[in-house]
Amino acid sequence: MAAPRGEFTSRFGFLMAASGSAVGLGNIWGFPTNTASNGGAAFLFTYLLLAFALAYPALMAELIIGRHARANAVTALKSISPGRFSQLAAVGVGFVGILTVSFILSFYAIVSGWMIAFFFDPLARLIGMDSAASWLTTDAELRNSIFVVLFMVLTVSIISAGVKDGIEKWASRLMPSLIVILILLIGYVFTLPGAMDGLRAYLIPDFSRVADPALLVNAMGQAFFSLSLGVGTMLIYGSYINKQENLPVIGSLVALLDVGIAVLAGLLILPAMYVALGNGVQIYDASGGLIAGPGLIVSVLPALFNTMGAVGLFVALAFFSLMTIASLTSSISMLEVPVAYSVENLGMERRKSAVVMGSIITVISLLVVFNFDPWFDRVVSYTTEISQPLLGFAFCIFVAWIWHRNEVLQEIRQGSPDAESGLFWKIWPFYIKFICPVAILVVYFQ
Ligand code: PHE
Repeated sequence: MAAPRGEFTSRFGFLMAASGSAVGLGNIWGFPTNTASNGGAAFLFTYLLLAFALAYPALMAELIIGRHARANAVTALKSISPGRFSQLAAVGVGFVGILTVSFILSFYAIVSGWMIAFFFDPLARLIGMDSAASWLTTDAELRNSIFVVLFMVLTVSIISAGVKDGIEKWASRLMPSLIVILILLIGYVFTLPGAMDGLRAYLIPDFSRVADPALLVNAMGQAFFSLSLGVGTMLIYGSYINKQENLPVIGSLVALLDVGIAVLAGLLILPAMYVALGNGVQIYDASGGLIAGPGLIVSVLPALFNTMGAVGLFVALAFFSLMTIASLTSSISMLEVPVAYSVENLGMERRKSAVVMGSIITVISLLVVFNFDPWFDRVVSYTTEISQPLLGFAFCIFVAWIWHRNEVLQEIRQGSPDAESGLFWKIWPFYIKFICPVAILVVYFQ
């Protein structure tokens, strides 16, 4: 006998969980440096436009399907598909989503493991354990494996506790802490010499870069990854929203929070990088762009913290707790996708399912740790550059071309009775039917 389905108990809980999923490593290591390297505020502007014109409609598609079906992606897509062929496609898309998100989690756990290791580094130094500190910050298979396992244990234990006592409870604690730590760090970094140069690089617009198609592609990819789209994460979170909630409104709040925190992260990262530059740290890569991705987090910033003396220990501690929180609130949303499927469709008990799915993903993650060079980049690009956009495309097709328009409207109406005459219903159906799929394909074939 299946347990009753979980549900978020408040709008705040849902917002923290969904924005927790959205705000992750992508916001902190991708967005700020992308912005600075691609025309500053001009990129920011393009990103905002794409996030609201394309990613938000796709986010809404997932939330609406999820809440309508009150089920995981496989069952949900099937339930809105009238024909045999579309049902087959539904099962295919649902499964590819589960596989994709599991592989995303397998590389995410490795990077998140680094964040935990770097979090323990200043603690070890504070108590004088310098050799432990250097072990923690030296890249090695053993260290990486231990922290992958630790991170996955945290993720599994939150997911085992369920929607209300796991996801909602932890997201509601962790996300506000993340915002407070972020703001404190920004305040501190702003007082340091060089910070204003970083702010200038971040915010002064260079519109000559915005027409560049590569930049648009970049901004779009960033927006999709950042809003956790295509892999069923937002769909499953949508399935736990109660029927009284106004979906277009809470969807836009999630998008706003995600973009807002990405913008805030830029106010921290760019000034910090220019402070580092002033302190003699290398911040440009071989091709002259700003160092982004893992290199930024595990080499540029730690080098900066090291030049700060004793204060640097506390700044490092704050920064890596921020990164760990951002990772964890995203990783739980990823693990929830296969777990919800196995609970609902295979009749597994939640706790057992979380352990089984978590263990399988941990094993994949460890295989990547031991074959890092050939595998890591490949897993990242297959999942985020190939699979995710195609799945995003499929979701648009399902909601706009396969599902009955009337049922879509009925679902939105549940929490917003006048939806039919509102702005959302005037624009969104057209967007999701034509603009989103075409834009995704254009980006994809770039
Ligand atoms: N949105 C997360 C980030 O920005 C990543 C993510 C992708 C989370 C897909 C869930 C699903 O880091």
